[in-house]
Amino acid sequence: MPSKAQQRYLLASAVAGVAAAIRIIRRRNMHTPPKPLPSNFPVTPADVVDAANRVKPHVHRTPVLTCNGLDELAGRSLKFKCEVFQRTGSFKIRGATNAALQAPENAPLVTHSSGNHAQALALAARSTGREAHVVMPRTAPAVKRAAVEGYGAQITLCEPTNAARAEAAQKKTEEVAGYFVHPSNEPRVISGQGTVAYEFLEQCADLDALVVPVGGGGLIGGIAVYAKWKRPSLKIIGAEPANVDDAYRSKQKGELVGHDDRDSVADGLKTLLGSNTWPIVRDLVDEIIIVDESEIKNATALIWGRMKLCIEPSAGVGVACVLSEAFRAKYPAEAYPTVGVVLCGGNLDLAKASQKLFA
Ligand SMILES: Cc1ncc(COP(=O)(O)O)c(C=O)c1O
Repeated sequence: MPSKAQQRYLLASAVAGVAAAIRIIRRRNMHTPPKPLPSNFPVTPADVVDAANRVKPHVHRTPVLTCNGLDELAGRSLKFKCEVFQRTGSFKIRGATNAALQAPENAPLVTHSSGNHAQALALAARSTGREAHVVMPRTAPAVKRAAVEGYGAQITLCEPTNAARAEAAQKKTEEVAGYFVHPSNEPRVISGQGTVAYEFLEQCADLDALVVPVGGGGLIGGIAVYAKWKRPSLKIIGAEPANVDDAYRSKQKGELVGHDDRDSVADGLKTLLGSNTWPIVRDLVDEIIIVDESEIKNATALIWGRMKLCIEPSAGVGVACVLSEAFRAKYPAEAYPTVGVVLCGGNLDLAKASQKLFA
């Protein structure tokens, strides 16, 4: 028989448990039910649901992790969707696989990419019994080049500019009569990347906002199309390096503009929004927040140190965003107590990093 003190303790725990459950149910009910989105987007929520079923046997359902230390720093609860554990080390396998599974029979797959989409497409081609040809900038990290070759793709190197990549990829597509899979602007890639949100919303019922790194906009595009339909009250925030701020500038201006092609440690985010991703970013993404290079490096190192997760700097951009003054001011913890952050990839040149570490 429990003592009086134990009984009081049990009663208080039960009351606290019921109160927490009521809070969760209330928050869930606050979410407006799905409603049709405007039909002028190249990707629909149904495409994302189809993609989720199509790619399911080929991709990992990645875990969502939390970290008390990071929660304290952010002053709210952070939920990290760990695409760093995804096959090929980033979310890119989702979109590449969705495209490969719908490509014309036997057509070789062709793409240009600074690395992560390249690895993903190479693996997607191999799993669907196709050839893959990848145009990469000559400055791409050695680890990414080796991985692409490891998956059996053939590499063509080009100058590290967006124009040079596009030109070389077009030439290769004609040469091999291939099927070109753009890393971010291809609708089947966008809907494949949206499966990150499909899983994330299943895993976390209580998200108030989602922070997503932006390069060409395929990831945030697919996420926004699905999430704004499934849970319209959820804020979708894009995180972008200030050095390559085309999404930020485009949102400010209300029209698609480029960036100054400066360098960034977040090499996956140097690409530009495209004709398919821009309308989604314009209409469904609530805001783009930019972060500078030192914020990106600090946030990346923070995740290595606190969570022991080997994320790449492109993923650090989302973390830097959620810790930034701009984010805190616009999305205060009282109104947005639970924020999801997509840790989009973990393809680091570890050999290079450890050379410094053990020098
Ligand atoms: C790790 C990582 N995160 C984010 C992105 C950005 O994705 P998107 O180009 O679809 O915006 C990329 C793109 O290469 C990437 O490699």
